[in-house]
Amino acid sequence: MTWQLFIPLIWCMSVVISQYEPYGENVAFGKPANQSTTYEVYKASLGVDGGISTNFNDGTCSHTGEGPRYAWWTVDLEGFYFIKFIRIYQWAYAYANRLNGSKIYVKEKDYTWKQINFNSNWPPSVFNVSVELSEPIGEIMLNNYVVQGAAAFICVCELQAFKVIECVPFSIENGNIEVVKYGDSNQNFTYGTTLNVTCHEGYMISYDGLLTNEAESTQKCNATGKWSRNLTCSVTTCGRPSNIPNNSKEIVTPGIAGNNTYNATITVECNEGYNNSLHEIKPLRCASDGLWRGNLGNCNGNYVFAKVYVLYTFILGS
Ligand SMILES: *[C@@H]1O[C@H](CO)[C@@H](O)[C@H](O)[C@H]1NC(C)=O
Ligand SMILES: *[C@@H]1O[C@H](CO)[C@@H](O)[C@H](O)[C@H]1NC(C)=O
Ligand SMILES: *[C@@H]1O[C@H](CO)[C@@H](O)[C@H](O)[C@H]1NC(C)=O
Ligand SMILES: *[C@@H]1O[C@H](CO)[C@@H](O)[C@H](O)[C@H]1NC(C)=O
Ligand SMILES: *[C@@H]1O[C@H](CO)[C@@H](O)[C@H](O)[C@H]1NC(C)=O
Ligand SMILES: *[C@@H]1O[C@H](CO)[C@@H](O)[C@H](O)[C@H]1NC(C)=O
Ligand SMILES: *[C@@H]1O[C@H](CO)[C@@H](O)[C@H](O)[C@H]1NC(C)=O
Ligand SMILES: *[C@@H]1O[C@H](CO)[C@@H](O)[C@H](O)[C@H]1NC(C)=O
Ligand SMILES: *[C@@H]1O[C@H](CO)[C@@H](O)[C@H](O)[C@H]1NC(C)=O
Ligand SMILES: *[C@@H]1O[C@H](CO)[C@@H](O)[C@H](O)[C@H]1NC(C)=O
Ligand SMILES: *[C@@H]1O[C@H](CO)[C@@H](O)[C@H](O)[C@H]1NC(C)=O
Repeated sequence: MTWQLFIPLIWCMSVVISQYEPYGENVAFGKPANQSTTYEVYKASLGVDGGISTNFNDGTCSHTGEGPRYAWWTVDLEGFYFIKFIRIYQWAYAYANRLNGSKIYVKEKDYTWKQINFNSNWPPSVFNVSVELSEPIGEIMLNNYVVQGAAAFICVCELQAFKVIECVPFSIENGNIEVVKYGDSNQNFTYGTTLNVTCHEGYMISYDGLLTNEAESTQKCNATGKWSRNLTCSVTTCGRPSNIPNNSKEIVTPGIAGNNTYNATITVECNEGYNNSLHEIKPLRCASDGLWRGNLGNCNGNYVFAKVYVLYTFILGS
């Protein structure tokens, strides 16, 4: 196989079967259009004026002039967009096949043109052409070349270019994001993208600012261009421990974000005259699940009383 045959095969692999729903805004509407020549008043901009009538006499279709065997029409999207599909409204009768044989090209970000339709036998009236390229496009061109015989024309009643749905790029502080599944056009932040969000040590998933006890969650870009959840990674907080012994002085070491947060510790010293019930106390530590771990015992024993008691038993015992 020669390389000339190989190139179209590689390219075809980036075109995947498309379903048209759901889709975003028509980004061709009202954008600058141009054409090779103009027939009477039927300027290029009529192809993106919003008029979807397929009756040429309604005056909302563009039309190139008579003569040449080559004609083109373009629309500049004034920006680069991931396009899901292009819908074309063409003159539906009288010259129903006027565009037949035309080719559709799209201009990618690196300014190369790519042909997106390979079937030169155009369907009549209104039809969709899928554009599932992995690059965004900035311009769309139709061109018609007649090898022999009559002149070539381009007549566009309306051309619509629908964007893929995109969610705002999602980033998270104190956590990591991993793409579990890519969405439309194999992009990170487009419809269908599923992200796995994990929080760093000491942080937990919050929904709308409410702390959960989850360290991991998933997030999906939905059909309305919104992320399915309002996720943040919030610092793990243990709150105030309930079992601080009476008659003691606290010794607090702040955690990663202050007192009572992950890795904070609390230990105690019994006040003068009190002894701890434990031989060795285990300082409390704010653990990753938001609970305090450890044992501070109690400061109940009164060694002044104990001394007297020892003296008393000594006297009694003697
Ligand atoms: C439209 O196309 C014509 C013919 O190629 C060209 O002369 C003209 O500069 C173009 N207009 C714009 C605005 O690009
Ligand atoms: C379109 O062109 C093809 C090839 O030239 C031809 O076979 C077909 O009949 C045409 N279709 C229409 C609707 O004119
Ligand atoms: C074009 O796409 C629209 C939107 O999904 C759909 O309603 C319509 O049936 C499609 N038309 C054709 C001819 O596939
Ligand atoms: C996903 O997003 C990251 C960060 O914006 C970027 O570096 C990466 O290239 C994107 N990957 C795809 C397939 O879009
Ligand atoms: C999300 O990431 C965590 C940690 O890397 C992993 O254990 C888990 O399996 C992932 N979940 C999915 C749905 O990929
Ligand atoms: C997301 O949650 C935060 C609280 O963490 C809140 O301030 C914000 O308004 C929420 N955003 C949306 C879009 O609901
Ligand atoms: C998309 O997500 C937003 C925010 O979570 C939610 O309000 C909306 O109902 C969702 N829409 C669909 C179609 O799932
Ligand atoms: C501290 O003393 C109060 C009042 O006597 C009592 O209710 C509480 O349980 C004591 N706390 C501890 C940790 O022993
Ligand atoms: C942390 O706890 C110590 C001891 O109870 C207290 O003196 C200090 O003000 C606390 N710091 C903050 C930021 O709350
Ligand atoms: C929390 O404490 C543990 C045990 O002392 C330590 O290994 C870890 O590095 C600490 N983590 C942070 C984020 O401070
Ligand atoms: C009680 O504590 C004092 C020091 O505070 C120590 O000298 C004494 O041995 C302790 N008594 C007991 C019974 O642990």
